[in-house]
Amino acid sequence: MRRRPRWIAASAVAAILPAGQMSAAGHTTTLQSGVYSEAQARRGESGYLRACERCHAVDLRGDLAEEIPALAEDDFLRRWDGRTLDDLFLKVSRTMPATAPASLTAREYIDIVAYLLKANGFRSGPEDLDADSARLQRIAFGAAAPQARVADEPTEALTALDYFEIRQLNARFVHGLDSAADQGTLFAGVFTADGVYVDAAGAVHEGRAALAEYARRDPDRRKGPTNVKHYIANDVVEPGQGSARGRGYVLMATRGQVGATTTAAARDDLTDGGQYWDELVRTREGWRIRRRTLVRPGASPAVPTVLPPWREPEGPIPPPPSVPSLTADDYTEIYQLYAKYGYTFDSGADKGYAWANLFTPDGVHVNAINPLEYLKGRDINALFAYGGLRLAGGFVTLNPAPAPKNPLSIAHILTSILLEPTEEGVVGKAYRLTGAVTPDGRVTLAPGGVYFDLLVRTAEGWRYQESWYLRPEIAVPQGAKRFVSPHRAN
Ligand code: HEC
Repeated sequence: MRRRPRWIAASAVAAILPAGQMSAAGHTTTLQSGVYSEAQARRGESGYLRACERCHAVDLRGDLAEEIPALAEDDFLRRWDGRTLDDLFLKVSRTMPATAPASLTAREYIDIVAYLLKANGFRSGPEDLDADSARLQRIAFGAAAPQARVADEPTEALTALDYFEIRQLNARFVHGLDSAADQGTLFAGVFTADGVYVDAAGAVHEGRAALAEYARRDPDRRKGPTNVKHYIANDVVEPGQGSARGRGYVLMATRGQVGATTTAAARDDLTDGGQYWDELVRTREGWRIRRRTLVRPGASPAVPTVLPPWREPEGPIPPPPSVPSLTADDYTEIYQLYAKYGYTFDSGADKGYAWANLFTPDGVHVNAINPLEYLKGRDINALFAYGGLRLAGGFVTLNPAPAPKNPLSIAHILTSILLEPTEEGVVGKAYRLTGAVTPDGRVTLAPGGVYFDLLVRTAEGWRYQESWYLRPEIAVPQGAKRFVSPHRAN
């Protein structure tokens, strides 16, 4: 028998270990047989909410960022596989709550253990679980455990389309925030009507009017259709009941002042970053953010409370969109198109045709920074991607001996892809991170500009009809103006 935790007074041991149950130690008990009672688990739940919830969370998921382990589901069961209830009881009763170990009574601890069993899907039985070390040692987590679990609460699975729509929500968030389009209402529309954004300073912006006002704030006077500041990556979505939890990494660019001697590439930098922690809900209008908190690595975040179940307020059913929305297959193909843009252009593969073939046969590529770079048609686009064109000195000339491109370069990293179906096709807006590989193999990364694209569905699949590369320092050219407007409407 293990040594009892020192905080259990002798009289308490006597009280909780009546002789009859001591002898029960001879039997082998399994977790399947119902080793705790419902009433005990209910007591344990309130104990848990008092002493454990603020760290391990109300749904027992813990907090990855704070290195607080989950106390439920596969992670937890894997860690405890092969160990006994005694091990768990000792762990909990001797070391938890982490800030006040051994501060509860044995009864409170064993009740909480019962609650943890219930939360992990093990069935209850007629009797309470006792804090009897010898008995607890005979009950192990293990291979048999999963069969003992009752079916999980049905969490509604997300479809592929749900994942894409949530990704679009993230893209609309950054484009809405960076552009302040439509007086901030593009940004505000990403949230539920009572949605909340907690910014880096911990300030709370609640409700669409306040959110739009937040998006309009522009201390650096840089907001507009070509402003690039927030890059979101690594969108993670975990499904719940008509809701989801999301996470994302966010990188933030700082734009320096344009000086006579500073080049565009030199004055921008990625200077900040963090994570978004989200509560997302499915509404009549589609997926929306109910609460998003920006969490910085340096700060110690307040563990967000879990919101009560979402109930949609009464309201009119929005009319169906005037142009068909995209299917999951459309999203898959279009995201692939954007992903291939970098690989094909940066490598110049297939004599540039790998890139040119992402366009329609009469597709147009414009880099608005270079007045000469208005290229139309696959052959000319291929020649350009291969390095066969010189665009300098006011003339386009052939470069008869293009230097081979480095197929492993990572120059065009496209993120935050926002896709809006329009009558003409799908208007895409994407941010570029500009990577460069130096001859000695080092990689540098800098904020780049913004793409406005028109994508069309052809017999070959989705293709670029037009792709415009813009930067904040240049005015939106006439030909690209029509792409700015779809992003102003929501
Ligand atoms: C102040 C925050 C905090 C509180 C409150 C807290 N814990 Fe923990 N808990 C932690 C941290 C951090 C760890 C990881 C370090 C460790 O294992 O000691 C942990 C680990 C655990 C583990 C081990 C998990 C595993 O799979 O390895 C269990 C079980 C546990 N806690 C249960 C509880 C219970 C039950 C309570 C309430 C009585 C509680 N904790 C209260 C922070 C907390």
